[in-house]
Amino acid sequence: MARYSIYDGFVRSPLYNDNRVLIAMSFSDRLASMFQKISISKNFTPADSVVVFQGNCLDLLKTIPDGALQLIVTSPPYNIGKEYEKKLNLKKYLEQQAEVIAACVRALSNQGSICWQVGNYVDDGAIVPIDTVLYPVFHDLGLKMRNRIIWHFEHGLHCSRRLSGRYETIIWFTKTKDYIFNLDPIRVPQKYPGKKYFKGPKAGQYSCNPLGKNPGDLWIIPNVKSNHIEKTEHPCQFPVELIERLVLSLSNEDDWVFDPFLGAGTSIVAAIRHNRRGAGAETVPKYVDIAMNRIQQEIAGVLKTRPMGRPVYDPEAAGNNLRIAPWVKQKNDAQLQLLEKHTEYAIK
Ligand SMILES: C[S@@+](CC[C@H](N)C(=O)[O-])C[C@H]1O[C@@H](n2cnc3c(N)ncnc32)[C@H](O)[C@@H]1O
Repeated sequence: MARYSIYDGFVRSPLYNDNRVLIAMSFSDRLASMFQKISISKNFTPADSVVVFQGNCLDLLKTIPDGALQLIVTSPPYNIGKEYEKKLNLKKYLEQQAEVIAACVRALSNQGSICWQVGNYVDDGAIVPIDTVLYPVFHDLGLKMRNRIIWHFEHGLHCSRRLSGRYETIIWFTKTKDYIFNLDPIRVPQKYPGKKYFKGPKAGQYSCNPLGKNPGDLWIIPNVKSNHIEKTEHPCQFPVELIERLVLSLSNEDDWVFDPFLGAGTSIVAAIRHNRRGAGAETVPKYVDIAMNRIQQEIAGVLKTRPMGRPVYDPEAAGNNLRIAPWVKQKNDAQLQLLEKHTEYAIK
C-alpha cells in the first residue's frame, strides 16, 4: 500500500527510498492528492486498503474471505449501558460476543492474532471481569492464549464501595503456533543500558540488547479522557498508541487489521500509520462520521495523537504546583512529608 505523508510542507512518497520530494503543493492540494491515493471503501474487497462499514460487524464479516485477516483487535461493548448499547443479561451478552468471535476466527489467517480489549461488566455493584468469562469462548474455538496484557491508566470513575478500577486487559490469542510476532519494533528503552557482563567469556561487553527490551505484559498508557489530545465525542476510545504496539508486533506491512467494533476508528488509524490495511464496522452513524474524519486526517498525515513511547506525565517532575495541597501549611505536616522527595544518604 503506497503511503504518502507530509514533511516540511512537501509531499514525499514511500515509493522512493530516498524520500525524494514529489512536488510542493498548497495544503488543500496535498489533502486532495492523498485522498486520491488511499480511498475509504464502504464494503470489503481484498484489493482495498481501508474499509469502514456502517452496520453490524457480522454482516461485514460474512463478506471477508476465510483467513484474510492478520490481526483482529477490538474493544467490544462492555454491556454496561453506554449510549451505544442496550444492557443485556450476561448470558445473552456472552452469546452475542461468541457469535462475533467465531465469525472473526473464521476470517483470521493461520499466522494471525486476535486481541480483545476488555474491562468489567458491572451488575448491582458486583464486577465480572469480562476476560475471565470470554476465555472459554476463545479456548473452545481452539485458540491459544499468548498473553493477558494489563493496561494500566490513572484516570477513571472514583468508586466509594470498592477500589477504583485503574486497569483493563487485552487478551491475545493466536490460531496456530506459527504466528507472527515482531518484537523489535516495540522494544522499549533498557533500564540500565550501560550495564556490562562482569565475568565469563563476554566480560566487559554490554549485557543488554541495544535495540531495547521486551515491553512486558504491563502497559502503562494514559486512557482517553477529556484532556487527552485524541478525545472525540465517542465515550470509550482506546488510545492509538495502545493499538500501535499490537499492529507493529502482530502484523506485517500490507496485512489486514480488522476491528469489528470500530467506534471512533482508532484501530484503522493505527493500521494506516504503520502501512497496514484497515477495516472495521460500526453501527452508530455519528461514530462512523467521527471514524471517517479521523481516518481521512490520518491518511493526510495531520491527525494529532499522543506519540508512542512518550513517558506518562509526572506532575512532580513537571513542577506542577497543583500537587501541593493548599491546606498544607506546616513544614512538618504529614501531607507535605508524603510529597517530599526521598533522597539517599551519602557518607562523606
Ligand atoms: C467500546 S466501543 C469501541 C471504541 C473503539 N475502540 C475506539 O477506540 O473508538 C464499541 C463500539 O461498538 C459499536 N457496536 C456495538 N455493536 C456493534 C455491532 N454489532 N457491530 C458493529 N459495531 C457495534 C458501538 O456503537 C461502539 O461504538
